[in-house]
Amino acid sequence: MRNRSIETDTYRYTHYGNADVLHAHRHPLDAPGFGQVAVEVIAAGVNHMDAFLRNGRESTWHDDPWPRGSGSDFAGIVTATGPGAERFRVGDDVIGHVRTGAHATHLVVDAANLVHKPAGLPWETAGGLYLAGATALRVLDDLRIGADDTVVISAAAGGVGSIQAQIARYRGAHVIGTCGDRNFDYLRQLGIRPVRYGEGIEDRIRRAAEGRRVTAFIDNFGKDGSDIARDLGVAPGRYRSSEDRRDVELDLLKDDPESVARGTATLAQVADLAAAGAFRLLVSGLYPFADIIYAFDDLEKLHARGKIVLATHPVTPYRVMRAREIHEAMA
Ligand SMILES: NC(=O)c1ccc[n+]([C@@H]2O[C@H](COP(=O)([O-])OP(=O)(O)OC[C@H]3O[C@@H](n4cnc5c(N)ncnc54)[C@H](OP(=O)(O)O)[C@@H]3O)[C@@H](O)[C@H]2O)c1
Repeated sequence: MRNRSIETDTYRYTHYGNADVLHAHRHPLDAPGFGQVAVEVIAAGVNHMDAFLRNGRESTWHDDPWPRGSGSDFAGIVTATGPGAERFRVGDDVIGHVRTGAHATHLVVDAANLVHKPAGLPWETAGGLYLAGATALRVLDDLRIGADDTVVISAAAGGVGSIQAQIARYRGAHVIGTCGDRNFDYLRQLGIRPVRYGEGIEDRIRRAAEGRRVTAFIDNFGKDGSDIARDLGVAPGRYRSSEDRRDVELDLLKDDPESVARGTATLAQVADLAAAGAFRLLVSGLYPFADIIYAFDDLEKLHARGKIVLATHPVTPYRVMRAREIHEAMA
């Protein structure tokens, strides 16, 4: 089945820079080719890696042609399918990933990049699931985090950390999460022991461990993690740095067929875990699609709780008040 003259707005940029280099480009959507599916995007996550690729800090794909697209996570509804994409039907709810180009109202992707959205999983959650969720899970699997572990996770209230900490908890680990004071209640609600980052953190982690030996350390934030892990006696093989996380993210964004298949398999696992209630992804910043610059500004302040997500059909054209602002206004 084919698209009938659908137009898409796609964020593109023609040179490296801050989020204000992003401009919506309207153009007719291609009909899906062999093995492809057209999707109307409902929600799309924003990630630090999107910003790093756009501002040139991450140069892995510096040979990509211009203009370039933005965004890797999305969830939406199938509007058309090409031959050989029979796994999906028009009207199916899907979650997907692309290396770039998810920040669009519609897109055409290979069916290999999609999984069915579990019924009941909210659109915002689904839209922000891929890069953060798959990174969180791969690092946990790589370290084989399980019930015998006492694991420290830095930036535990953030996009990757909040998913990672909850899945580790779901597997029975004792989880200590670093965060600012403002996120203590949030982490406690998830069964995670909050510890304030900054001077003296080793002592606070030891107290939070309550006599247990810290067996693993995941440094999402990328500050002093290896020194702290060493001082806590964590074996080098059970420490993962922010650079390790970068490698995981870049692997998840590769677009050769084998990498895409692995990425989609990890996405399916993450979606299943979300559907099973292993974690709840808090979306504390839901921005209308047109407000992408505000969404990235919010992300780059480095104090998001859970994820920041773009919505193509928000219930109000005004920026949705963020859960953490409500919390802080009440504090
Ligand atoms: N190495 C890489 O290539 C790479 C790739 C992706 C991401 N990163 C970095 O990883 C970090 C987390 O990623 P994310 O996607 O989860 O981002 P995120 O959702 O933006 O993370 C924000 C969280 O970071 C916490 N945070 C702020 N300052 C901190 C500090 N000094 N120590 C520990 N936590 C702190 C915040 O907690 P409070 O609000 O409670 O302070 C907030 O909950 C970001 O800083 C990002 O730049 C690095």
